[in-house]
Amino acid sequence: MQCFFINKHTREEASEFAARIFEAAFWNGSGNVLVGTATGQTPVLTYKNMQRIFNEEYDGYEEEFEECIRFMQLDNYVSDDATAENLPEYSYQRELEESIWKIPHNAHFIPREYIDPEEECKHYEKVVEEQRNWADLYIQLLGIGDKDGHIGFNMPGTPLDAGVHIATLNEETIEANAKKFFNGDTSKVPKKAITMGIGNILQADVIVLEAFGSEKAEIIHKSFFEDMTEEVPASALRTYDGLLFVILDDESSSAIREKEGDDVFTNLDKYDVNQIILDNN
Ligand code: PGA
Repeated sequence: MQCFFINKHTREEASEFAARIFEAAFWNGSGNVLVGTATGQTPVLTYKNMQRIFNEEYDGYEEEFEECIRFMQLDNYVSDDATAENLPEYSYQRELEESIWKIPHNAHFIPREYIDPEEECKHYEKVVEEQRNWADLYIQLLGIGDKDGHIGFNMPGTPLDAGVHIATLNEETIEANAKKFFNGDTSKVPKKAITMGIGNILQADVIVLEAFGSEKAEIIHKSFFEDMTEEVPASALRTYDGLLFVILDDESSSAIREKEGDDVFTNLDKYDVNQIILDNN
């Protein structure tokens, strides 16, 4: 594995940097690029930056992007009363439609929250495999659960080689998501989700993990500098054999800087990133 820890001062700078990694993947991926998307608060600014870069710097290249870009979402809630026409009030699908799916592309995929979850898991496992085969470069964006280190909805205790499965959200995740997306009302947070497994995620050629804010500092340190364990799903990334970028701001990097020192971090600009992606292709 080639792993770069990046520390930018602010979430804004970090998100701009992350967007440049995706730009490099589109430009230097030399072929079909599959972007594994994540939802939640963390990637919002990264998607805004990606849209800005594509609109401002690649005006006129829409056809090229339509040929070579596909999006594949990591996870989705299971919503018992949703239908294809009537999505729930808080919807990952709408979030993606209003952000990253606005970039010209030829296909996008998301676990359907309104299909029998067992059936949908089988279906989505096939989707993941087919898209992985289609892609010349598969680049996966990830956030991380504040306290437990979940990636996608892989909860603590999930086998590190899991495929697409139904996850039962733990209390911490329900509380965190209630605060972020449901005005603190835990009763409104769906209790189950369909998620790509850690085994699927580790198939990516490039992984970009973003974590911002002081509440993520300890879990980021634990994931990468303490024991690898199913209890901290993100620690599975230490077995990853692709190219990994861990992108932090000053708050989320604080525990690593205190305990491990500043040398952990590499200072890269967008030209370095281009070269790294090219070298890995
Ligand atoms: P967040 O969620 O981006 O909203 O902090 C991260 C996660 O739960 O994976």
